Amino acid sequence: MVIAIDGPGGVGKSTVASRVAGELGLPHLDTGATYRAATLAALEARAAIEDAGAVAAVVAAVDIGYESGWTTLDGRDVTEAIRSPQVTAAVSPVSAIPEVRTLVVAVQRRWVADHGGRAVVEGRDIGTVVFPHAAVKVFLTARPEVRARRRAGDAETAGRAVGDIAAELARRDHLDSTREASPLQPAADAAIIDTSELGIDEVVAEIMGLVEAIGER
Ligand code: DC
Repeated sequence: MVIAIDGPGGVGKSTVASRVAGELGLPHLDTGATYRAATLAALEARAAIEDAGAVAAVVAAVDIGYESGWTTLDGRDVTEAIRSPQVTAAVSPVSAIPEVRTLVVAVQRRWVADHGGRAVVEGRDIGTVVFPHAAVKVFLTARPEVRARRRAGDAETAGRAVGDIAAELARRDHLDSTREASPLQPAADAAIIDTSELGIDEVVAEIMGLVEAIGER
């Protein structure tokens, strides 16, 4: 059983997904971390980000790992490195490259299979592309200013002005939702939850209600 939790940045996906996974005793995969690891590999190899073939060749040659919030690249811990401003700036263009998506989606599907096919998976295209038959699909949204305020508390944006973060989120939203390969959009059968006025507990409770409704708890 896959529980897909999609939505834009700063919407609370990671916190909510790891809480839901904890309540259900399921592993949790942050697919954003896998795209960030692919981006770090491309930057470290000094591939030109606009050269899709060069970036894809680098990504094809590395081993991206993820376990309990820790991300690895060829076995090396890159959990902190993937949150650097350089990676954050390059991850949207890298994740828009169709060959990169094919490679990274294969990593994600293998990860879920290796974990017995039962997991909470968060991202942008999980319910639409990666696991279109997910048992539960959730698409989280929140007003832009709420998302910028939430992101301001994250490690990768520590100490930066909320206005700058809002501008960067808007830029990434635009890139992520207008790209040709798997644009950010809710699946037709996803439950859309606006988290602007909700606390974490309320969002988690709403998702647990959806899981109960399909008889999985
Ligand atoms: O959630 P995040 O900020 O760590 O995600 C980083 C980037 O990865 C984001 O700009 C879009 C991309 N991404 C994607 O294209 N598809 C996913 N399933 C997850 C993330």
